[in-house]
Amino acid sequence: MTLIAFELSGEHSVIPCAEVIGALEAEEIDFLIYRQFDRLLIIETYKSNIPLMDVLTRRLSMTWHILQVLGICDAAAPDIIKMVESVEIDHDRSLTYRIRTKKIKRKNQISSEDLERGIGKVFYDNGYKADLKNPDVEYRAVLSGGECIFGKILGSIDRSAFEHRNPSNKPFFYPGVVMPRLARAMVNIARTKRGGIVMDPYCGTGGILVEAGLIGAVTLGCDIQKKIIMGGQMNLDYYSVDYSILLQDAGNMALRDVCVDCIVTDPPYGRSAIIWARSLDHLMRYSLKEIYRVLRPGGRAVVVSECHLEDLAVEVGFHVDKVFIQRVHRSLTRRITVLDKVL
Ligand SMILES: C[S@@+](CC[C@H](N)C(=O)[O-])C[C@H]1O[C@@H](n2cnc3c(N)ncnc32)[C@H](O)[C@@H]1O
Repeated sequence: MTLIAFELSGEHSVIPCAEVIGALEAEEIDFLIYRQFDRLLIIETYKSNIPLMDVLTRRLSMTWHILQVLGICDAAAPDIIKMVESVEIDHDRSLTYRIRTKKIKRKNQISSEDLERGIGKVFYDNGYKADLKNPDVEYRAVLSGGECIFGKILGSIDRSAFEHRNPSNKPFFYPGVVMPRLARAMVNIARTKRGGIVMDPYCGTGGILVEAGLIGAVTLGCDIQKKIIMGGQMNLDYYSVDYSILLQDAGNMALRDVCVDCIVTDPPYGRSAIIWARSLDHLMRYSLKEIYRVLRPGGRAVVVSECHLEDLAVEVGFHVDKVFIQRVHRSLTRRITVLDKVL
């Protein structure tokens, strides 16, 4: 067994952790939660799963680094150096290394430079060569909640790739869409599998489907506006995503029962939204019924809204797993509701 740590981003208090758990489940990686610190999740898993961390590095959006944990101790410099002296450094001596420290919330008085120098000395004394610019292997000492987690980087998430896919950088732009990092996190929370079918019944410009397609899912979208659908197709083509899009009402879909594996969607809400229905309440009632009907048993739906969906969801048969609250600005707070269609 081994311990793997996920260094989480601070952009939300719980979504980054839920994203990691969803991605682990989607990839069918056996794990137990070992410890949770501020912005750090540590799991226990089989050593044979280490190569799969490459897949997670490409899937996750709200994590900075994935580490193989080599030691945990109190966040005091002498204890950290003692711990590092006792760990088994197993990288080839011909490879270069770099040590970095990260203080979560910067409360700890230890100087990062002194700590990096102290840990580096242990490596140097053992015959390893440092390269601060372009190392072959990087180690991190993360100080969180009064403890130090020391580990070797298995993967670092390319967060800038998500910024490159910001809505305004896409061939077709329409305002009021979720940003790529949140879209990807929702896709992971939905336990989207590579090769599985993901549906967005309000696909708009295809932001969610692009994120699902880029991790290897087959995507299916619906929207009621022809112009938006054409724009969504342009965006999905641009990222070479495998997709089908249908022009139809999310409250009455021409799809067979239980034909999709998961649903991730951002229906219209807020003052500027275009709603093609008698009312938003009417639309959500009928589309949740449809979402339940087309989803396979055991599948999950992740739905963004401004209003509470829990009662409607339970009425149509869903189990409400979680609701995440995300404040967007003064007049908009999003609710991200995770719904399970139990077997
Ligand atoms: C918030 S936007 C979705 C944005 C989308 N996630 C994206 O990346 O562009 C909501 C979408 O719902 C669509 N819509 C409104 N009423 C609908 C209905 N009855 N059935 C299907 N789509 C509808 C709108 O055309 C709009 O594209």
